[in-house]
Amino acid sequence: MAAAFITFEGIDGSGKSTQLRMLASELRLRGINVIVTREPGGTSLGARLRAALLDTEEQVDPLAELLLYAADRAQHVRQLVRPAIETGHVVLSDRYADATVAYQGAGRGFPPALIDEVIALATGGLMPDLTLLFDLPVAESLARHKRRADEGDARDRLDAEDEAFHARVRNAYLQIAAADPDRVRVIDATRSIEETHARVLELVMPLIESRGQRSEVSPKSNV
Ligand SMILES: Nc1ncnc2c1ncn2[C@@H]1O[C@H](COP(=O)(O)OP(=O)(O)OP(=O)(O)O)[C@@H](O)[C@H]1O
Ligand SMILES: [Mg+2]
Repeated sequence: MAAAFITFEGIDGSGKSTQLRMLASELRLRGINVIVTREPGGTSLGARLRAALLDTEEQVDPLAELLLYAADRAQHVRQLVRPAIETGHVVLSDRYADATVAYQGAGRGFPPALIDEVIALATGGLMPDLTLLFDLPVAESLARHKRRADEGDARDRLDAEDEAFHARVRNAYLQIAAADPDRVRVIDATRSIEETHARVLELVMPLIESRGQRSEVSPKSNV
């Protein structure tokens, strides 16, 4: 029995959730035990933290924001991700620790050493086997986001950040990938949804095939 922990990262509107859904369906069709989750909000406590973090009415202090994401992650790792991995599931998480390096580190400007310490504390050292980084120019991400808003999706607090903020986040993600190329694979997210899905499968299937799939218990996901 073996499992895998795969995370989806990238700036807002880069296609993470779209690709995660498509990958989960494809893996399930192949009989693989998949747990789909996200940060923030993968647990029931996390869902409450997510609501606070993304609330446009709330003035969340940057330090409070960093610690709320850490609290969400601590709960997520202990209640859901580790148990799921231990029972042989493939866990797909929409964002994880790299998002804290990119958003709270590069975006908000907290020092890297503090960010690393907070991440180590919250994760207990659990890092993904594979991280898919959906890379997209900021202008394209904002355009996709705007289209989605025009389709009636609600805006959240992070949408209000300026282009420079998102550019720092994008560059930080690319630096993470450059520093850890075995774990973090950069995907050109400007391609079509179908082409991107094919690339995701190319990157994910070798990892899954290198591990067995089988489990009896299903930890409950909140998503
Ligand atoms: N390859 C693509 N080409 C064009 N549009 C896309 C592509 N992938 C996703 N989209 C569209 O862009 C929008 C954002 O996609 P999605 O919600 O998957 O991104 P996300 O990374 O999860 O964003 P967020 O960080 O805000 O949750 C959606 O309207 C989606 O349909
Ligand atoms: Mg999403």
